[in-house]
Amino acid sequence: MTIKPNLVIAIDGHSSCGKSTVAKDLAKQLGIAYIDTGAMYRTVTLYALRHDLIADGRVDEQALTAALDSIRISFSFNADTKKNETFLDGQSVETEIRSLPVSQNVSAISAISAVRHAMVRQQQQMGSRRSIVMDGRDIGTVVFPNADLKIFMTASAEIRAQRRFDELTAKGQTVSYADILDNVRQRDHIDSTRAESPLRQAPDALLLDNGQMTMQQQFDWIMDALRSRRLITD
Ligand code: DC
Repeated sequence: MTIKPNLVIAIDGHSSCGKSTVAKDLAKQLGIAYIDTGAMYRTVTLYALRHDLIADGRVDEQALTAALDSIRISFSFNADTKKNETFLDGQSVETEIRSLPVSQNVSAISAISAVRHAMVRQQQQMGSRRSIVMDGRDIGTVVFPNADLKIFMTASAEIRAQRRFDELTAKGQTVSYADILDNVRQRDHIDSTRAESPLRQAPDALLLDNGQMTMQQQFDWIMDALRSRRLITD
């Protein structure tokens, strides 16, 4: 397979719609890098929690802004787990950034303008000299407005809540579908109404509603879009 040099694929969309699973799979098949920008906002949130810069959901924006240049975020492949992991100052934080305290505070952190500017700069550098698949909320609108392929992924709030419910109950957790649906709707609202880089479908992004699609169908759909634009050739 031939791939266009410096190919940039931007995948944006609502939370819990399976963006990262599709993005990872795609990057693996194409043999190019995958960058999870949500993990970067989660890592800044972990830093803020560790340094007592968040109290009762309120962020010390001044102190966090001053610290931004010294927060070193990187990604590295772990040969044991065969997974890409996120590092903060050289230490793997992959498990911690998925913890509840981080999930509860990441919306507040990702709404801060200085944080977004610092992350966007790093993301642009990460994709400046190589081919990448990057997923997030503002990749096709802000980070790479000239991306080769932009995809906006979504599914109804009910379908996303059901998937999350199935995932958590399979892990043995007792959860209520109504609470999860509430949380999904609340996050959609925060993501799409925040002042700084709200979640929007870029005008030139392809809409992928995966509510009734299997993983394989989504993958094939994206590969077809790449082929028809001659971004890959078999
Ligand atoms: O995709 P995720 O759930 O790991 O993202 C975590 C949070 O970061 C979520 O609240 C949305 C925010 N985010 C963002 O504002 N911009 C991005 N490019 C990626 C994530």
